[in-house]
Amino acid sequence: MSSRVPAFVEARRSIRSFLPESVPRPVIDGFVEAACLAPAPHHSRPWRWVVVDTADGKERLAAGMGARWRADLGNDGVDAARVDELVDASHRKITGAPTIVLGCLTWDGLDRYPDADRQRAEWGMALLSLGAAVENLMLAAADAGLASCWVAAPIFCPEAARDALDLPEEWLPHACVLVGHPDPAYVGRVRPPIPLDDLRARR
Ligand SMILES: Cc1cc2nc3c(=O)[nH]c(=O)nc-3n(C[C@H](O)[C@H](O)[C@H](O)COP(=O)(O)O)c2cc1C
Repeated sequence: MSSRVPAFVEARRSIRSFLPESVPRPVIDGFVEAACLAPAPHHSRPWRWVVVDTADGKERLAAGMGARWRADLGNDGVDAARVDELVDASHRKITGAPTIVLGCLTWDGLDRYPDADRQRAEWGMALLSLGAAVENLMLAAADAGLASCWVAAPIFCPEAARDALDLPEEWLPHACVLVGHPDPAYVGRVRPPIPLDDLRARR
């Protein structure tokens, strides 16, 4: 990686395997506070955070999202054995993480528009802000020597994730971050080099 990249940015990797040891709640709260320093439109704070660190919470979340994914895969025509394999692996991933931080979006502080295009753009801004917040959270975890991995699942089924955890109706889960102590045996993918000239233009 280029020496122009700050080391703390390069140090964050998606780590998908954890030691069983739990992460103290105040430590996770520090990461959530870091998330809440993210830029957000109109000085809003459209995100809400749910720390899922109980066996019951993880099971409910995994089962709720899994049921929805199972139905979607069935509708896609995926064969039953493959559906079981995918849904079971996802279930193990979620229930096996010491802590899950669920990033939710609300309309709190966002503008409302009479037309669908601007309404969609406004929600898009909130989503961008949630992404920035999740990156803050993961950078803070990496800085503390902890592992994290962003899991896409809830963005495909926000209502199922919300209802599985009995969250308020207006809290819509969009990002799921697994957090824990890194399994030293885990080997991550080698990061491909950044083809800067393909990814960056100048005018
Ligand atoms: C929105 C989003 C969704 C992701 N979903 C998943 C996921 O469902 N499962 C997973 O293992 N990794 C997921 N990742 C992690 C990416 O695979 C990972 O960031 C990418 O491969 C780059 O690796 P790095 O994070 O180690 O730099 C997701 C990342 C983002 C930003």
